[in-house]
Amino acid sequence: MANDPFFKLGRREFLDLAAGGFAMGVVAASPFAAVAQSAGGAPLKIGTIGAGREGGALGTLFAKHGHPVMFSSRHPEQLADLVADAGPTAQAGTVEQAVAFGDVILLVVPYTAVEQIGRDYGKALAAKPLVIDVSNPIARRDGDEIVTQVDQLGGAGLATAKLLPGARIVRAFNAIGSGQLTQGAHRPGEPIGVPIAGDDPDAVALATSLIKEVGFEPVLVGGLSMGKYLVPGTPLGGEHTPDEIRRIAATLK
Ligand SMILES: NC(=O)c1ccc[n+]([C@@H]2O[C@H](COP(=O)([O-])OP(=O)(O)OC[C@H]3O[C@@H](n4cnc5c(N)ncnc54)[C@H](OP(=O)(O)O)[C@@H]3O)[C@@H](O)[C@H]2O)c1
Repeated sequence: MANDPFFKLGRREFLDLAAGGFAMGVVAASPFAAVAQSAGGAPLKIGTIGAGREGGALGTLFAKHGHPVMFSSRHPEQLADLVADAGPTAQAGTVEQAVAFGDVILLVVPYTAVEQIGRDYGKALAAKPLVIDVSNPIARRDGDEIVTQVDQLGGAGLATAKLLPGARIVRAFNAIGSGQLTQGAHRPGEPIGVPIAGDDPDAVALATSLIKEVGFEPVLVGGLSMGKYLVPGTPLGGEHTPDEIRRIAATLK
C-alpha cells in the first residue's frame, strides 16, 4: 500500500490525475506497456474464471469484439454451447488453462470461491497486468458468514486484494447484470456507466480502455477500498449514467 499512488496522493488527486492521463503515462513506462497499449488496438487474450451467467455474457462481449477468450469451468466440457455462441475467437478450458492463457483475467465466481482460487492460482494471477474482479459477496446466495468476513477485510475490493496477494485488481461490472451486458453495450445516446475501483494505475488504465471498447463508460470512483460500493444493493449498485456515478461517488468515502 505504501507504494500505491492512490494512497500516496489521496483520492481526489488520484482521480484528477488519472482522468488527465496520468494513468496512461504510468502505463507507457511500465513492464506491461505492450499489453496495455494494445487495448483498443490489437486483441488481448482474455481468460475467464467462471463462465456462468455473468462470466459467460462478459466473455462473449469481449469475444465479439475480436479478443481471444478462454472460458473456464471445473467442467469445461459443459461449455460447448457458450463457446459456439461466442464465436470463432472463443474456446473453453480448465481454470488452470484459462489462467495460463489470459493476458487479462475476468474473475466472475461466487465470492465464496475466491479464497480457494487465490490459494490455487494466486501466484499466476499476480503476474497478470489486470484481474477484473466482477465477483460480489451476496448474503442470500453466499451466506452471512462470507459477507461478515469480507466486511472485516474492508469490503469487496480490499478483501479480493487480500485473497489474491499481488494481483493488479480492478473491480468492474459488479452491478451490470448479464442481460444488460448484452443489450446495453454501445447503446444509443448516453452509455451505461460502469463504476470501477482499483489501486494500480496501469491496471486501471487497461480496464478503462477495455470497458470503453466493449461499449460502456468506465468511471473511476477510487481505490479498492471503494470496491464495496459497487456491490448490488449499495450506493453504486444498479444502473447509472456516468454523471450519476460521479455524483454518488462524491458522497462516499
Ligand atoms: N448474474 C449477474 O447478472 C451478475 C452481475 C454482476 C456480478 N455478478 C457476480 O458474478 C459472480 C458470478 O455470478 P453468476 O450469476 O455468473 O453465477 P453462476 O451463473 O452461478 O456462475 C458461477 C460460475 O463460477 C464458477 N465457479 C464456481 N466456483 C468455482 C471455483 N471454485 N473455481 C472456479 N470456478 C468456479 C462456476 O463454474 P463451474 O462450472 O466450475 O461450477 C460458474 O461458471 C457472482 O459473484 C455475482 O455476484 C453476477
